[in-house]
Amino acid sequence: MKCTLIVAMGKHREIGKDNDLLWKLPRDMKFFKETTEGHTVVMGRKNWESIPEKFRPLPNRKNIVISRNPDYKAEGAVLISDLKEISEHYNADSDKKCFIIGGAQIYKLALEADLIDEMLITHVDETFEADTYFPFVDWEGWVEEDLIGYEKDEKNPHAFIVTKYTR
Ligand SMILES: NC(=O)c1ccc[n+]([C@@H]2O[C@H](COP(=O)([O-])OP(=O)(O)OC[C@H]3O[C@@H](n4cnc5c(N)ncnc54)[C@H](OP(=O)(O)O)[C@@H]3O)[C@@H](O)[C@H]2O)c1
Repeated sequence: MKCTLIVAMGKHREIGKDNDLLWKLPRDMKFFKETTEGHTVVMGRKNWESIPEKFRPLPNRKNIVISRNPDYKAEGAVLISDLKEISEHYNADSDKKCFIIGGAQIYKLALEADLIDEMLITHVDETFEADTYFPFVDWEGWVEEDLIGYEKDEKNPHAFIVTKYTR
């Protein structure tokens, strides 16, 4: 079983600060929503907590939260303690996809477990002060394709490109 990783990062691989995102980019949020809706999303406990309560679980998606604490309550989500458990809650034979949606610890875990065969990376054309970074990736063997590019506008303060990486 393989999953797609989806992330938005700044020029230095920065992805978060104080358990929050670094920017407001409604156009990228729309891309995230449209891409993941109808599918399964897997996230770390901290990422789950970073989503305001009224917006979680993420609607129209099966939400899976990973924590080492078996008593953790993630209302409306499935709790797992190991990425291997994803396959118990996700039917790989269906047309549904499994998305790893972060944060940094879970991206690293999924990449190290060789769970990822596709990445959708929003490259935000800016540097940000951050405390959380996307892990280092050895890009050998990955094929890159730019999907969409956006210039900044009054609602989206940074330009960005969405790139698909497959192997
Ligand atoms: N820019 C983006 O696209 C993007 C996307 C997602 C998140 N983010 C940002 O990333 C930050 C959060 O990322 P993070 O790295 O701090 O946290 P995280 O990956 O969301 O969650 C970390 C938690 O996952 C659980 N975990 C980690 N390794 C585990 C393992 N081997 N087995 C079982 N459970 C495990 C632990 O939960 P317990 O402590 O409960 O055991 C750990 O505290 C926030 O700032 C968020 O806004 C950015």
